[in-house]
Amino acid sequence: SSTPYLRVTPSMLKNQTGRKGKDAWMGLNGKVYNITPYAEFHPGGIPELLRGAGKDATKLFGEVHPWVNYDTMLSACLVGLLVDEPEGAE
Ligand code: HEM
Repeated sequence: SSTPYLRVTPSMLKNQTGRKGKDAWMGLNGKVYNITPYAEFHPGGIPELLRGAGKDATKLFGEVHPWVNYDTMLSACLVGLLVDEPEGAE
């Protein structure tokens, strides 16, 4: 059997900015990662990394360094899948 992925909606994601005592999550190409354990190792520094926190950062990431293999680097930090907000939830 396969591991069930947590389904993360945009409204769940936007609460995970790394502030208010919560971890920072980032959406990248349909997956959501907890970037908090990685932050101190980011070559571009923590504030730069956190520009993509709490949101789908696919476009921003691609503008900065499309050659970086985040999927391998963050495989242990996978939170779940980024899904659409349920119908009528907003
Ligand atoms: C380097 C920004 C997310 C991995 C950098 C640099 C910037 C940057 C400005 C250049 C630092 C320098 O050369 O002085 C960002 C922004 C992100 C983001 C705005 C938000 C979307 C990530 C993520 C990862 C990552 C999620 C990996 C899990 C790296 C690596 C480098 C780097 C490996 C060095 C790349 C190289 O020199 O070829 N980042 N980053 N970054 N970042 Fe990010």
